[in-house]
Amino acid sequence: MKLRGLLTRAMAAQVVVTAAALLASYAVAGPGFGIAQIAALIASAAAAVLLARFCARTIETSEDKCAAAQAAELARARNDSAQMTQAIIKTALDAFIQIDDNGTVLEWSFQAEALTGWTRAEALGADVVDLIVAEPLRAAFRQRMARLVPELSNTPSGLRFELTLVHRNGDPILAEASSTVLRLGARVITNTFVRDITRKRAAEEQLVQSQKMEAVGQLTGGIAHEFNNMLTVITGTIEILADAVKDNPPLATITKLISEAADRGAALTSSLLSFARKQALQPADIDVNALLEELAKLLLATFDKKIEIVTRLDRNVWLAYADRGQLSSALLNLAINARDAMLDGGRLTLTTRNIVFGVREAVAVGAGYAGDYVEIEIADTGTGIPQAILERIFDPFFSTKEVGKGTGLGLSMVFGFVKQSGGGIKVASEEGSGTVFTLYLPKAEASTLRPTGYDDRKIVGGTETVLCVEDDHDVRQYVTVQLEALGYKVIPAANATEALAIAAEGKPFDLLFTDIVMAGGMNGRELAEQMVAARPSIRVLFTSGYAYDSLHTQGRATMGAPLLRKPYRKAELARMLRRCLDTAVDSAGDAIPTPYSVQADVEAFLRRQAAEDNGTKRPGK
Ligand SMILES: Nc1ncnc2c1ncn2[C@@H]1O[C@H](COP(=O)(O)OP(=O)(O)OP(=O)(O)O)[C@@H](O)[C@H]1O
Ligand SMILES: [Mg+2]
Repeated sequence: MKLRGLLTRAMAAQVVVTAAALLASYAVAGPGFGIAQIAALIASAAAAVLLARFCARTIETSEDKCAAAQAAELARARNDSAQMTQAIIKTALDAFIQIDDNGTVLEWSFQAEALTGWTRAEALGADVVDLIVAEPLRAAFRQRMARLVPELSNTPSGLRFELTLVHRNGDPILAEASSTVLRLGARVITNTFVRDITRKRAAEEQLVQSQKMEAVGQLTGGIAHEFNNMLTVITGTIEILADAVKDNPPLATITKLISEAADRGAALTSSLLSFARKQALQPADIDVNALLEELAKLLLATFDKKIEIVTRLDRNVWLAYADRGQLSSALLNLAINARDAMLDGGRLTLTTRNIVFGVREAVAVGAGYAGDYVEIEIADTGTGIPQAILERIFDPFFSTKEVGKGTGLGLSMVFGFVKQSGGGIKVASEEGSGTVFTLYLPKAEASTLRPTGYDDRKIVGGTETVLCVEDDHDVRQYVTVQLEALGYKVIPAANATEALAIAAEGKPFDLLFTDIVMAGGMNGRELAEQMVAARPSIRVLFTSGYAYDSLHTQGRATMGAPLLRKPYRKAELARMLRRCLDTAVDSAGDAIPTPYSVQADVEAFLRRQAAEDNGTKRPGK
C-alpha cells in the first residue's frame, strides 16, 4: 500500500513538473517548439530521474526495515519459546535431564539437583551414567541406554520405565522416568523427566504388610477368643476343685497341673490377642523412665555380665498413655530378643525421648495420628537381622530360634500392643552390628484422674446385688458361683435384651457386670449406656477377653473405664467389683463422674464422635 502510494505521488509530481516546465517555456518563448521547450523537457527529465532515485531509495529503506522487523519478531518468538521451555522445566515437579547421544548432560534442572545431589554446574558436560548410576551397574546401564535410543526414536510419545539410581551420598533412589527423543539434524537428544518413587513404594509395601498383618490378626484373634472362653471356665472352676480336694494330695497335684497348664494357655492366648490387637487394654498414664529403670535393674540382675546395660533417659519425657502391664512385657520381650542376639556379650541401650510427629512421620512408623509421642528405643550390638527376614519378624510364630526356645510370638505381641495403643514401631538392623527397635506411644493427656484408694491385697467381698450379663452359658454359671461365694446377690442374664427386661421390671441392683462382645443384637457397651441413661447411679464393670468392641477401636479410647480382662481369678474379680462399688457417690446417691464411671466414658465417646464428625480422627480428644 505504501509503495503504491509513493509511486502514485511520484508520477503525479512528474506530470505536474513536466506541465509546469512546458507552460513556463510557452509563457517565456511563445507558441512553437524552440530552445525554451527543449530546456523545459530536459528539466522535467532531470526531475523524473531525481524522483525515480528518491523512490528507489525509499523502497530500499522500507524493505530493510521490514526485514529487520521480521528478524526481530523471529528472535522474540524463539526467545519466548526458550523461556517457556525453561519455565516448564523449572516448575515441573519431576527432575529434568537432557543428554546427547554420548550421554553427556546438556540440561539439568533444579529438581535434578535436589534428586541427585549434583549441582547443575557440576552436571553440565558430565557423563550422566557416571553421575547417577552405581559403579557396578554402569556398564549394563550404558548397554540399556544404547538399546533404548532407537526404541525411543520409533515411539514419539516416549517411554516410561522404572530404574534404580544413586544419590551423590550413595543412597539408592527408586525412580520412575519418562523419556522422549528429539532428532536435530544428525544429533540425537534425549529428554527425560525423573520422579523419586522411593517413598511411594515404601508406603505401598507398608500397606501390603499391614493388610497381611490385619488378615492374620483377624484369624488369630477369632481362635484366641474362643479359646479364652474355654480357659475362663477352667481357670475359674479349678480353684473350687482345688478347694474340694485339698486333703487328697494326688488329686491336689493333678489340679495344680491343670491350673498351671491353664495359666500357660492363658499366656498364649494373651499373646495372640495382643497380636490381633484384641487384647482388652487398661491404658493409664505411665512414667516410662521409671518403668525402664525397673527393667534395667531386673536385666542387670538376670542377664549375663557380658551384657552391659545402659540407660539414656530424657528427664523431661512426657507420660505415655498405655497399658502398663502390656508395656512391661513388650519391653521385656525386646530385651530378651536383644540378649539372645548377644550371646558373646555386647551392649543394650535403653533410651527415652519426646517426639512430635507430622502426618508423614506418623505414617512412616505406622502410628495412628500426627501428634506427640513418647519414644522408647531398645538398641543392641548383637548379630543383627538379615534383610531377607526383616519383614517377617513380626509375623506370629516366626522364629529363627531352635525348636522349644522361641514361640515366635514375642514381636507379634509387641507389634499388636503398640498398634492397639495408637502408637507405632520401627526397626533398623544391620547384620553384624546390631538392631534398634523404636516404640512410639501416645503422650498421656495429663488430665486423667486417679481412682480412689482401695486395698488390693486382700479379697474383699460384699452384699450388693450384681446384674451379671454373659452370653456363654458355662462362663455365666461360673461367674454366678464366684460372685455368690464373695457374698453378692446375683441376677443372671444371657444377653442385653434379657438384662434390659430385668431392669424394666424395676428389680433393684447396684452393679451391672457385663461382657462387652456378645452374640445377638446389642453389645455390652450399648447395654451399659442404656442402663446408665435410665439409672445414673448404677456402677458398671465390663469384662472382655476380646476386642473392646467397635466403639473402642483404640485402647486409648477406653478412658480408663473399668474392665476385667478374661480369664481372671477370683481375687481380681473381687478387687474390681469393690473398685467399682466404692467409687465416690454424691448426696443424691449418684456416682461422681470420674474416668472410672461410665458417664465420663460416655461423654468421652460422644466428644470423640463429635470430633470425628468434624473431620478430626484422633480418638480420645
Ligand atoms: N534384637 C534382635 N536381634 C536379632 N534378631 C532378632 C532380634 N529381635 C528379634 N529377632 C529375630 O526375630 C525373630 C522373631 O522374634 P520374636 O521375639 O517374635 O520370636 P522369638 O524371640 O524367636 O520367640 P519368642 O519371643 O516367642 O520366645 C527371632 O527369632 C529373631 O530371629
Ligand atoms: Mg522373642
